[in-house]
Amino acid sequence: MPLGQEQETIDQKPIFNAEPFKGSFCGKDIISVEQFTLRKEIEVLFEVADRMKQSVEEGEIRKDLKGCGVALLFYQPSTRTFSSFSAAVQKLGASCQISIPDMESFSSAAKGESLKDTIEAIEQATAVDVIVLRHPEDSSSQEAAHFAKVPIINAGSGRLAHPTQAILDLYTIREELGRMDGLTVTMIGDLKNGRTIKSLAKLLTLGDGIRFNFISPPILRMPEEVNNYLRQKGAKVIEGNSEELRDVLGETDVLYVTRVQEEWFVHQAMREIKEALGEKAKIIGEDKLLEAAKILGEGYYQQAVEGYVIDLELLERAKEKMIVMHPLPRVGEIAYEVDDNPRAAYFRQMRNGLYTRMALLAAILGKAKIPFCSNNLSVV
Ligand code: NCD
Repeated sequence: MPLGQEQETIDQKPIFNAEPFKGSFCGKDIISVEQFTLRKEIEVLFEVADRMKQSVEEGEIRKDLKGCGVALLFYQPSTRTFSSFSAAVQKLGASCQISIPDMESFSSAAKGESLKDTIEAIEQATAVDVIVLRHPEDSSSQEAAHFAKVPIINAGSGRLAHPTQAILDLYTIREELGRMDGLTVTMIGDLKNGRTIKSLAKLLTLGDGIRFNFISPPILRMPEEVNNYLRQKGAKVIEGNSEELRDVLGETDVLYVTRVQEEWFVHQAMREIKEALGEKAKIIGEDKLLEAAKILGEGYYQQAVEGYVIDLELLERAKEKMIVMHPLPRVGEIAYEVDDNPRAAYFRQMRNGLYTRMALLAAILGKAKIPFCSNNLSVV
């Protein structure tokens, strides 16, 4: 929705800068964690999430979203994000939920419809009050927010951002460790393609004295612009290879593990092949290019999976209070034997997604009885 400013236009797609919250969530888009400019805002949201948690645990029937409609439009696979938004909508008593978990094949996107037209169609056809969007393009949520009249919540955009995951992750850290300051956070895995770690790292800089260890194979390093952002915000950033995990484990408060995101390797290979071939790519044709990209992508993937596994033997080196987090799905990087260890926070982390998404939906729709105002943020 046009609450922020249109910044510039690239390839006919407007790039839209969502407004910072400035104390109020009501009517706002959630596009990226950079919108959180005040720590107090996230703390208030967490207090709302605490109240949602209490309601769920006590089986209270809430009616905050009575009369409201929410659309969930997912162009990429999802288990947790989709189902937790869906449950959050139901637990807040919304009157209408439009859930399309397979937009790529079941919506008119399969016929070539643009995101602009699809967003317009959903708004007109369903009269929903908020749209939750997951999409493979980095700029998808910004683009949708530019065209939509109702708020857009980014549920994962390309390789760039996953703000609601970052919110639930930070909520988990606060729950588990009782603080947001002075943390050493070690992130391991696909730091290049993962969107959760980029958003969480940025959000963590709302705390003071944050130190990051970014552990990955060289071809999956955190992009430099993210490192620069973190350093500008006062965080310390150290990068290392997977074998260095053992050295930093003893100082780590949060070990955030991610999977190698195989699905992006073919995209990257295709882009590189097209760039290298220039005009000749058109003569060769998409099918042949895709074949070549699959071979090159597989080569990249083999370089990237160097077999880091978090197991109980490794955890013996960790602080007693260290927590292990993962946005999930996992594909072998945390051994199942870790699941019953008290440090394994990844299942509790998932449940926190429900509470924080309930809080966000209620706050954005202005339906929970939570007064937000810029000078005196409080929850009643
Ligand atoms: C992540 C995502 O989709 O970015 N999953 C999630 O939302 N919990 C992480 C991943 O797919 O690896």
